[in-house]
Amino acid sequence: RLLAELYNGLCLSSLGHTKESLEFAQNFSFEDTDVLAVTYPKSGTIWMQEILPLLLNGGDLTPIHTIPNWDRVPWLEEKRLELMPPSFHTSKAKTIYVMRDPRDVLVSSYYFHQMAEFLEEPGTFDEFIGKFLEGKVLFGKWTDHVKSWMHTELGDRIMHITYEEMVQDLPAALRRMADFLGRNLDPETIQKIAEQCSFQTMKKNTMSNFSLVPKAYMDHDKSPFLRKGHAGDWRNHFSSEQLAQFSSVIHKELEGESCSLPWSL
Ligand code: A3P
Repeated sequence: RLLAELYNGLCLSSLGHTKESLEFAQNFSFEDTDVLAVTYPKSGTIWMQEILPLLLNGGDLTPIHTIPNWDRVPWLEEKRLELMPPSFHTSKAKTIYVMRDPRDVLVSSYYFHQMAEFLEEPGTFDEFIGKFLEGKVLFGKWTDHVKSWMHTELGDRIMHITYEEMVQDLPAALRRMADFLGRNLDPETIQKIAEQCSFQTMKKNTMSNFSLVPKAYMDHDKSPFLRKGHAGDWRNHFSSEQLAQFSSVIHKELEGESCSLPWSL
């Protein structure tokens, strides 16, 4: 089985979680063969929902052509490692943690808040930076999520990868994931999966682009879910003052942490 974990416990009610769904998460019984894709939102969650079924089934395209991505995997919507259900810690389930440049996470999230009718309007970009830094967005602070999942006792049960690494060389990223999952895939299969999981192919796949979701819930005319798929779009949005403010808060919150970020913020 394959699991996607995202979001946090702060605003669960606005995501429509019921008592039953929270109990489902807490009582979820992990098996040793389970694989989790863990992401702070807008870091590549649905990309992983495309990739992992294919890596795990040897490139059989059936699931991604027949099952909408939100139904392909159970979702455990929690924030931090310490909130994971007990069976996660006692199992041998493996985790792939995808991290993205927080400046691009913020930009992607800003547009997502415009198109997702179930979320609050983001306000101006400047206002949204303030909300993001204070963790007053649906998903809480980016730094809390990253800190929690970078320092784990999971050892070789967790692999870290960046969105930027995946954008730069998807076949290489897929090989690294396949190795971690113990799947020996030939170069042709890796290439086939990379093509299927490219931004352009996913954008056309109705099972993956959220076009089946009613407009009252997601309005793609305001901004498509699969929006740009670039690394570095923050350059088109931040002023130098905003960038300085953003970087200083992120640095301060990560002060003393041994994880160094792969981007110079
Ligand atoms: P942008 O808004 O910058 O385009 P999540 O699934 O965690 O909500 O993340 C959504 C972000 O991942 C969006 O970023 C989306 O376009 C991007 N994304 C999804 N699939 C992708 C792919 N195949 N290649 C590159 N980016 C992808």
